[in-house]
Amino acid sequence: MSLHIASTVELNNGIKMPRFGLGTYRMSPGKETYDAVRSALDVGYRLIDTASYYANEKDVGRAIKDSGLHRDEVFVTTKLFNHDQGYSEALKAFEASQRRIDVGTIDLFLIHWPVLALRQRSWKALETLLKQGRCRSIGVSNYTVAHLKELGSYAEYVPAVNQVELSPYLQQTELVDACRTIGVQVESYSPLARGKRFGHQGLRDLAEAHGRSPAQVMLRWGLQKGHVIIPKAVSSEHIVENAGIFDFTLSDAEMEEMDGFESGLRVSWDPTGVP
Ligand SMILES: NC(=O)c1ccc[n+]([C@@H]2O[C@H](COP(=O)([O-])OP(=O)(O)OC[C@H]3O[C@@H](n4cnc5c(N)ncnc54)[C@H](OP(=O)(O)O)[C@@H]3O)[C@@H](O)[C@H]2O)c1
Repeated sequence: MSLHIASTVELNNGIKMPRFGLGTYRMSPGKETYDAVRSALDVGYRLIDTASYYANEKDVGRAIKDSGLHRDEVFVTTKLFNHDQGYSEALKAFEASQRRIDVGTIDLFLIHWPVLALRQRSWKALETLLKQGRCRSIGVSNYTVAHLKELGSYAEYVPAVNQVELSPYLQQTELVDACRTIGVQVESYSPLARGKRFGHQGLRDLAEAHGRSPAQVMLRWGLQKGHVIIPKAVSSEHIVENAGIFDFTLSDAEMEEMDGFESGLRVSWDPTGVP
């Protein structure tokens, strides 16, 4: 069946997660976040990605509540930040995030970053939250293959998701393969590489061939690779444009051509040096 804006993937715990959503990093708290989330939900987005670090959880929650959508129709992710890691600290931070978002059960709670001395205890806290039914899924973010291997040595539950930087210019194939092998869904953050390659001629040629924008081609590539993608946009034109990726297909040859765009481009933080 062809993909649509609310298409989901089944996670390793049986929960269905939308394949496409809105990122909210560097959205100002208050009106900017509220308006962007309301617009996205109106357009049909069904996944919203926030974090305590973004300081906009409250506005995300308010926009969801005001949208008129049933709670079950929207999938909400938030994350545990570094200064809140540890067992009791993570439990406390979760409660605070849940209170700020205020939409009931959180769909996905992620460890934002693999903090060396604390990540094991943080994961145990996330497992407790899962067992208590206080969030529906738990996962990690910015975990490398080595971090996942280490987690496998003590985890009772396999993470449902690993949210990592991933775009046609940073394809993370080894990490993607490792995630697939153990049943972890890859979620691509900065899927537009923050616009840094919109001028790339190869991308522009593909966009022109399909009558699409470079942003739409990048996002369609991520979808066809099987990733969950969460482009961030505050501009309502961008919010609408990014959702216009469900009515065209990149051919196998075009996908292969885009495999050649790999250039190790990182626009966010790099966890590869974290022991
Ligand atoms: N877990 C982590 O450590 C982590 C790290 C980074 C990001 N993330 C998540 O991933 C989300 C997305 O990543 P990101 O925000 O870093 O970058 P991104 O989605 O790759 O790029 C966002 C930028 O692209 C612009 N843009 C969006 N759509 C566009 C379009 N159609 N045409 C031209 N420009 C467009 C946006 O502008 P406007 O906003 O002005 O519309 C914004 O400046 C974040 O918001 C966050 O939720 C997670």
